[in-house]
Amino acid sequence: MTQDELKALVGQAALAYVVPGELVGVGTGSTVNHFIDALATMTPRVAGAVSSSHASTARLHAHGIRVLEATEVQRLPVYVDGADEIDGHGFMIKGGGAALTREKIVADLADRFVCIADASKRVEVLGQFPLPVEVIAMAAHQLERRFAALGATATLRRRADGAVQLTDNGHPLLDVQGLRITDPLAMETEINQWPGVVTVGLFARHRASLCLLGTPEGVQTLVF
Ligand code: 5RP
Repeated sequence: MTQDELKALVGQAALAYVVPGELVGVGTGSTVNHFIDALATMTPRVAGAVSSSHASTARLHAHGIRVLEATEVQRLPVYVDGADEIDGHGFMIKGGGAALTREKIVADLADRFVCIADASKRVEVLGQFPLPVEVIAMAAHQLERRFAALGATATLRRRADGAVQLTDNGHPLLDVQGLRITDPLAMETEINQWPGVVTVGLFARHRASLCLLGTPEGVQTLVF
């Protein structure tokens, strides 16, 4: 099976965790795109979705699914999203799609975080994937120096045309290479304290409750 077929498999499998007639939190990325397509086929349908990015909102709307603002909602039964890496405790690196801040906000509303990922995302120790950090622009160089003091290298993310990539919130992102994250909770707490950090793409406080992992043998359910 291709990686995309594995993503489609888990996108479909996540429907089992969505409550018909209720709201669902929707993440961002190529795996979530499969989930959104599957959600459109669900009967009875969900009452609506809270989306974590303009891209997911557009896809939900294209399927005729109602999208509510996070500010209109107090609680979601479930949030479904992908990950760039997930470890054996459900701790994740996220933000490869630049949606980390809104993803954490929507995840915070949810009772359960269902992570959907192909098997390549499952790692023993987080950090091989460059850690995304959304930052306030004027702090970028100071934050680069802070990461350098940890022995890591932070680089401003750029688009294919060379321009600095901005998130849906209008902020740049640093991608941090060279971290070996053995204590995700401690590192998330530490980086969150640095002035100018909007969101670190470590999801430790908002780790997955379960992960549907797409493998050539089928969907493996990891419960944390
Ligand atoms: C977006 C994310 C995505 O969940 C993560 O990048 C995985 O994406 P994909 O499903 O395309 O592999 O965190 O900000």
